[in-house]
Amino acid sequence: MRRSIATRILSVALAGLSFGGMAQTVATKPEPSAAEVQRMQWFKDAKLGIFIHWGIYAVDGIDESWSFFNGKISYPDYMKQEHGFTAAHYDPQAWADLIKRSGARYAVLTTRHHDGVALWDSKQGINVVKDTPAGRDLVGPFVQALRKDDLKVGLYYSLADWSSPDYDVFTRKEKRYSKDPVRWQRFLGYYQGQLRELSERYRPDLWWFDGDWEHSAAEWQADKTRDMLRSYNPGVVINSRLPGNGDYATPEQGPPITPPAARYWELCLTTNDSWGYQQRDKNFKTPTQVIGLFVDTIGMGGNLLLDIGARADGTIPQEQVDILTALGQWIQRYPEAIYGSSAGVPKDYYAGSSTVSADQRTLYLFVNGKPNGPVLLKGLMNKVVDARLLGSTGSLKTQLIGNSVNIPGLLYIDLAGQALDPQMSVIALKLDGPLKLFKKPYDKTTES
Ligand code: GLC
Repeated sequence: MRRSIATRILSVALAGLSFGGMAQTVATKPEPSAAEVQRMQWFKDAKLGIFIHWGIYAVDGIDESWSFFNGKISYPDYMKQEHGFTAAHYDPQAWADLIKRSGARYAVLTTRHHDGVALWDSKQGINVVKDTPAGRDLVGPFVQALRKDDLKVGLYYSLADWSSPDYDVFTRKEKRYSKDPVRWQRFLGYYQGQLRELSERYRPDLWWFDGDWEHSAAEWQADKTRDMLRSYNPGVVINSRLPGNGDYATPEQGPPITPPAARYWELCLTTNDSWGYQQRDKNFKTPTQVIGLFVDTIGMGGNLLLDIGARADGTIPQEQVDILTALGQWIQRYPEAIYGSSAGVPKDYYAGSSTVSADQRTLYLFVNGKPNGPVLLKGLMNKVVDARLLGSTGSLKTQLIGNSVNIPGLLYIDLAGQALDPQMSVIALKLDGPLKLFKKPYDKTTES
């Protein structure tokens, strides 16, 4: 039994790459089933999603839910924001069109954060339709607009609801109860009922859970919830915050330095320092920084879920519109290096980010800024059939130094005189076969 599991182990960190030399010992994980591969294909190929935090917290521009939980504002004052949540200029089609222009292939909207305020007219709990001047369902029109633009629909839903009278935790300092099976059962019925409503109405392609940490998978009845969601859409993708049931890992803020062990993952990242709209927070990443973080992420095999925060009136801050637009313009120049690609070579081989095409025969090197000499790639066992700068015509000059039997040399790629992309250039190396990298530990016996 142990052996058969061991033989099913595949490489993760360098998924899809094979090595000349010895078997590698990097992080491992079991091979996925064919059904899982099929279910996850669109997600793996998509590379970019846009996360939208929208809720009453945008009225005062304070931390979503956490501001009352952490006692920065009283609960009644937090809830007073309901009166200012108008959605007066909400244009779901404009949102979807912006997301499309950003190059993203999916979006995730906060349908209900930890504060319990639902963005649709749920039959239960607090919602913007009956409790705010917005007075209408805000989820449905966005779902429709996304589908019109051929974008996949992701719904964020917090398991925890700090407003619910049946939920045990209220704030960091206050609990409603510690053991009360009857109330907990009622809470389970409430949250699962809301998920049923959302499933029935909107049939999402992806569920983005959050707020799971206060209870165990068993307490959440996570398996039952998963089965229920899959009964509406057997192919639905579920993130790892439905405990024990996730299809993919969700590292948060700051790119992972080494890739997460999970086969599929998505880095969620804010454009400034806040998830929701906060007027005072002007600490925006530049488009160049976002492009750099994006290629870092896809170069390690992940997706980027880039977050924006809509204002209470439904408009999106110009800084975020500009970031998404610039990212989209850049992506549009290099789609072949992005969509459908896999993790590229580790940074020991190339001191930058890289991806590899689905057929493994083209390696894409992302070049940041203007290098002061040729770009260096080490340990490539393949022959390079052609080297090009994407977006330019003609081949790039390359020089191979120190190549010998079984020891690949150093490949220098000359960019002198080339018109480089001010954001990030892309070199495409067409290989003579599937990407193969040298991997052999230092061996003293080969020294002369
Ligand atoms: C954290 C926070 C939450 C935010 C989420 C996004 O879990 O609790 O406020 O919505 O991250 O990933």
